[in-house]
Amino acid sequence: MSTSLSNEQLNQIANEYGTPVYVYHAEKITEQFGKLKQAFHQCPTRFFYASKALTNINILKHIRSLGCNIDCSSINEVKLALHAGFDRENVLYTSNGIAFSEIEEAVTLGVNVNIDSLSNLEKFGKKYGHSYPVGIRLRPNIMAGGNLKISTGHEKSKFGIPIEQLDQILALVEKENLFIAGLHIHTGSEIKDVEVFMKVADIFFDLVPHFPELCFLDLGGGFKVPYKEGETGTDVPLLGQKVAEVLNRLKQTYQREFEAWFEPGKFLVSECGYFITEVNVMKQNGNTVFAGVNSGFNHLIRPMFYEAYHRIENISNPDAPRHPYTVVGNICETDTFATDRPISEVREGDRLVFYNAGAYGFEMGSNYNSRFRPAQVLVINGQSHLIGRRDTFEDLLRNQVEVL
Ligand code: LLP
Repeated sequence: MSTSLSNEQLNQIANEYGTPVYVYHAEKITEQFGKLKQAFHQCPTRFFYASKALTNINILKHIRSLGCNIDCSSINEVKLALHAGFDRENVLYTSNGIAFSEIEEAVTLGVNVNIDSLSNLEKFGKKYGHSYPVGIRLRPNIMAGGNLKISTGHEKSKFGIPIEQLDQILALVEKENLFIAGLHIHTGSEIKDVEVFMKVADIFFDLVPHFPELCFLDLGGGFKVPYKEGETGTDVPLLGQKVAEVLNRLKQTYQREFEAWFEPGKFLVSECGYFITEVNVMKQNGNTVFAGVNSGFNHLIRPMFYEAYHRIENISNPDAPRHPYTVVGNICETDTFATDRPISEVREGDRLVFYNAGAYGFEMGSNYNSRFRPAQVLVINGQSHLIGRRDTFEDLLRNQVEVL
């Protein structure tokens, strides 16, 4: 049985901490990491948690305690990772479109770096030559992922160095005597199809002879997790088996050993998260019944930004018959979470829970409409802890400079 929090536990937390509130279940993260380790036990693999999904320092510390490494997308995430106690060799900075000064800072901090532009690669070569190993992020021209906004490997994507520029990469590597320790390809988020990862592996296979010092092949993140009832995610055991096969083939073909690196975000933290809201207003409009909750895209933007589906349940009235509701927020914009969604009878004051709220939920939140960002609670060993307090009015003014 999969690890989850019961309605009773969620109601207790809402009673104690108020709503809206994000709740994270540490043991679910542990379970997900266990699935990865089990699936890849037959091949040398390193997992780097894509911390952009959720950076609360307690989550980072929990993930470190599991023996997982960490992937960062900004220098501040690198600093948070180090603050959480990760050793620098277990920190990866996969940069994109950043100023070279940030890469210099990452080198000073001693973390692993993947570079995604020819211009930064050239600056890197000029400054560090062969003295600091570096990975190259490539763009493979593969369309994959759950939505165009979260597809990063296609031919119109800004990410990575286009693979057709391989000649220029190789010329640079030679000219600056670069130490290329890894190749990196992340094609997108919510990739169900194992074959997509295998296409990437094939690309790596052909590239290996060009880079004699390679040690890792980084296939990025993007494992799909189920969001809808009955949906299945990426077949991780199958992926583990196929990656092991590729690494073996590489060994046989080139007499060299490689590590596979992965950067899972959603896989580790999506399902651990619950977002509890409360219904402020019920409104009948023709055939539509609106359930207006005390939240909006300021707290959970995924439905509006990516048309993402989040399961919603009424934990105040779970056994009542289901009716279709259009769940909306209280932001002064159209902020529809779900349209005509069957939910057990909803009344004002009821609590609606959004599932799969751990990844890119709180993290993409804002203070739009001068609303407070929600509290965050961690459940670990059966105990709940406040790990992020709800904003207060002072927070809204904190960085403002009153000159008038
Ligand atoms: N590695 C790199 C280089 C990435 O850009 C990403 C995600 C990941 C790993 C982790 O991907 P994951 O395993 O979480 O799918 N905010 C969007 C997702 C954006 C993903 C950005 N990059 C969403 O809520 O769907």
